[in-house]
Amino acid sequence: MRLALSHTIRLALAAAILVCVPAIASAAQPPKKADAVSDGPHSESSLERDANGIPVGDDPNGLLANADIERGKRVFQKIGLCISCHGWDGNGTGKNSRSEGAAALLRDTSMDAEALISVVRCGIPGTPMPYHDSQAYKKPELCYGQTMADFDEAGAPRKGHTFKEADIVNVVAYIETKLKGYGKATLADCEEAFKPGAGFCIGMK
Ligand code: HEC
Repeated sequence: MRLALSHTIRLALAAAILVCVPAIASAAQPPKKADAVSDGPHSESSLERDANGIPVGDDPNGLLANADIERGKRVFQKIGLCISCHGWDGNGTGKNSRSEGAAALLRDTSMDAEALISVVRCGIPGTPMPYHDSQAYKKPELCYGQTMADFDEAGAPRKGHTFKEADIVNVVAYIETKLKGYGKATLADCEEAFKPGAGFCIGMK
C-alpha cells in the first residue's frame, strides 16, 4: 500500500513536471510585441519596387530622389485634403468613402512620377480634380501650355488647397511608395496611416 501510494505520488509529480516545463519554457520567451495588431498583414504590392519603394521604372529622372514621404503623408491627409475625395487609402476606404467610384483609385493608377506631379500641380480641367500649385494657369508653361483664359466656365480647372513645389513632390512620393500598386487596404495599413488602435480603423481586417 505504501509502495502503491508513493507510486501514485511519483506519477503525479511526473505529470506536474510535464505540465510545468512547457509553461516555464514559454515564460522564458521574449514577450509578444504590444502592438501586435499593427504587425498584421499589410496589403501586397503587385509591382516590383526599387530600394526606395518606388515602382521600378516610375521615376527614371530621379524627380522623387529628395522627397520626404512622411511629409507627403501629411500633405495627403491634412495639408492637401486629398483624402476628402480619394479616401485615406487612395481608394475611398474608411469614413471618407465618397470617392469610391467618383475620384480616381490611386492604388490602381498607372501614372508615373512625372505624370502624377503634373496632375497634382495642374489638376484635371473639366473634372473635380483640383490644381494645387498657386501659379497654375497663370503661366502657360506650368500647365499643359494653358492659362485660365483658355477655358470656359464649365471646363475651368478647379482650385484646391495650394502648397509649395516640394510638397507636390512629397505627396507624389507618398502615392508612389504607399498607395500605387497595393491591393485592398488592411487594418495594418490603416494603423500605419494613422496610429495603432486608431478609432478610424475600427471594423477593418
Ligand atoms: C474635390 C475632390 C478631389 C480632391 C480634393 C483631390 N482629388 Fe484627385 N481626383 C479627383 C477626381 C474626381 C479625379 C478623377 C478625375 C477624372 O479623371 O475624371 C482625381 C484624379 C486624381 C489623380 C489621377 C489618377 C489617375 O490615374 O487618373 C491623381 C494622381 C490625384 N487625383 C491625386 C490627388 C492628390 C494628391 C490630391 C491632394 C493633393 C487630390 N487628388 C485631391 C478628385 C479630387
